[in-house]
Amino acid sequence: MELQLTSPLDMHLHLREGAMLDLVAALSARDFAGAVVMPNLVQPVDSLERLAYYGAAVEAATSNYTFAPYLTLFFRAYDEATLAAARPQIIGLKLYPDGVTTNSAGGVRDLGEIEPTLTIMERLGIPLLVHGESHGFVLDREVEFLSVYARLARRFPSLTIVMEHITTAAAVALLDEYPNLYATVTLHHLLITLDDLAGGLLQPHLFCKPIAKRPEDRAALRSAALRAHPKLMFGSDSAPHPLSRKESSGCAAGVFTAPVILPLLAELFERHDALPQLQAFVSDNARAIYGVRPPAKTITLARTPWAVPASYGDVVPFFAGQTLPWQVVTRSND
Ligand code: DOR
Ligand code: ZN
Repeated sequence: MELQLTSPLDMHLHLREGAMLDLVAALSARDFAGAVVMPNLVQPVDSLERLAYYGAAVEAATSNYTFAPYLTLFFRAYDEATLAAARPQIIGLKLYPDGVTTNSAGGVRDLGEIEPTLTIMERLGIPLLVHGESHGFVLDREVEFLSVYARLARRFPSLTIVMEHITTAAAVALLDEYPNLYATVTLHHLLITLDDLAGGLLQPHLFCKPIAKRPEDRAALRSAALRAHPKLMFGSDSAPHPLSRKESSGCAAGVFTAPVILPLLAELFERHDALPQLQAFVSDNARAIYGVRPPAKTITLARTPWAVPASYGDVVPFFAGQTLPWQVVTRSND
């Protein structure tokens, strides 16, 4: 049995820099026609100069593939001239509340101060991508942030707002409340709950932000993804960290899913009799929401078992060492 996907898109991806970029970029660029590349480098992508540097680095690391990197700027206060100049090169600005996740120091401290920049973004038609977590109790952080989304959606009705990596039933419900509110969801939040991370022996490779939630939250995420809710896009949040940063006291947040995304999505959608919806979930919805035109690329998966490598360099992937029922067999246009 085979399955073909046309120009799959990963609308939330961490590619890093240097040797890590060189290691992981190909693993996304071979299976996807494009990806939204996050700007949370150690020194964030927060200027036209940094954008030019990072665009060139990503381009060089993916040049062997048919792949469109959709770059983002790290949210801070910008003037109109800067955003107008950046606009042709970016898909949006990514807002991190200060300190909520990896490399988010320097993020927004006072949500009251972001409005002048949002006004410019709304005028220029630049989407706002948000890591929506409060600084509250870890399981409540996303739900506590939902009122911020609602307020922004009301105050800036022409601004496209993307709730990144949603993890709760409440966030799924909010999607239908405001026409300018959209969301991404990850593979790992469709598959795991907090039990998988911390219910038995602690599993550092499943530790991420936002943290995996309750079974009923996962059920709501699955239900929306499996019917390809038109305001929901696939965004992996694949976030590589070296083994030494994961299997250590003070484990870094991030699940490295890039090499296993399409086989595991195929398995999930097949298990729920939803394979016909996978194309919309993994590409068509994002094209409609962002108006992107990714390069043509056909990915063929076969229902042939595949053993996931134990590691890629010093990065341990999701489902490391396990055998999956599906694998990618051909990638046209490579
Ligand atoms: O788990 C996460 N890792 N969540 C994020 O929001 C950032 C990411 C990273 O960059 O490692
Ligand atoms: Zn992320």
